[in-house]
Amino acid sequence: MRLQGKVALITGGGNGIGRETAALFIKEGAKVCVADYDETAGQAAVDELNATAGDRAIFVKVDVSSAESVERMIAVVLEHWGTPDILINNAGITQDSMLTKMSIEQWQRVIDVNLNGVFYCTRYLAPHMVQRGKGKIINTSSIVGVHGNIGQTNYAATKAGVIGMTKTWAKELGHKGIHVNAVAPGYIETSMVANVPEKVLQQMLDKVPLHRLGRPSDIAQAYLYLASDESDYVNGTVLEVNGGLVI
Ligand code: CAA
Ligand code: NAI
Repeated sequence: MRLQGKVALITGGGNGIGRETAALFIKEGAKVCVADYDETAGQAAVDELNATAGDRAIFVKVDVSSAESVERMIAVVLEHWGTPDILINNAGITQDSMLTKMSIEQWQRVIDVNLNGVFYCTRYLAPHMVQRGKGKIINTSSIVGVHGNIGQTNYAATKAGVIGMTKTWAKELGHKGIHVNAVAPGYIETSMVANVPEKVLQQMLDKVPLHRLGRPSDIAQAYLYLASDESDYVNGTVLEVNGGLVI
């Protein structure tokens, strides 16, 4: 088992990629904190995991866009299991619109969740990891953060920002035993792509050399690699998992 005895904090762990990751990490021997804004999904995920895994999963409600809420989440995890070995900054949202129609609210909310949320979670947890002298931080970017995308000014800004923070933290924290990397998924079959117009989605699919959308498990496996000891010389990288898609 690749994560035996490790503790992982997964934001957005109640649905989609985060939920699949929680299940994979439990299978690999970890204890998992599922942290999510969606209480119903998060608690259901944890109940399902604990039905087979003893009590190796807990749910903590968090709004990552609130510094206070994130501080409370970290306090709960520390009290329950001590300093996590792994932080997956996976929570994220979209509010797509063409630039000329994008409202200030759409811009601000996506920045608050996808960019500020990653900053808050890492800002409050990293000092504890530094104190222990080890930790793995994995940030979720996107193919959209690397190449940009029509209708996603707000989202692209956050996911490019996540890459900037990843590379900065890899430099700041590497010599303190903390590895910081990012995963940049392509189009993955979760509720996030459900609202993409059929025509646009088909155009994307046509450009994927592997001829399929990604599955949540494709990303969970990438997170697992970066969370495990097998990636101990990997730091400051952006792992693109997109079937070869270029947008
Ligand atoms: N590629 C090519 N053409 C695109 C496009 C794209 N990604 N997105 C929109 N267009 C085209 C449309 O086909 C349309 O073309 P025509 O005028 O020739 O019909 C034109 O741009 C205008 O689009 P809409 O008529 O749809 O304009 P709208 O204002 O009603 O909607 C929109 C705009 C909300 C951005 C909508 O087009 C949309 O939802 N696009 C999809 C955006 C997208 O790809 N989001 C990804 C979500 S998943 C995710 O974000 C996860 C991740 O990290 C990958
Ligand atoms: P999803 O919508 O299935 O899951 C996202 C989870 O984040 C949900 O459980 C949601 O409740 C939670 N969340 C949203 N706002 C929150 C907040 N303020 N505080 C706490 N939790 C919050 O989406 P999916 O696809 O699993 O996305 C996971 C991550 O992967 C996101 O960061 C997304 O941007 C990224 N991503 C997804 C891709 C895709 O095609 N599905 C592609 C590239 C990146």
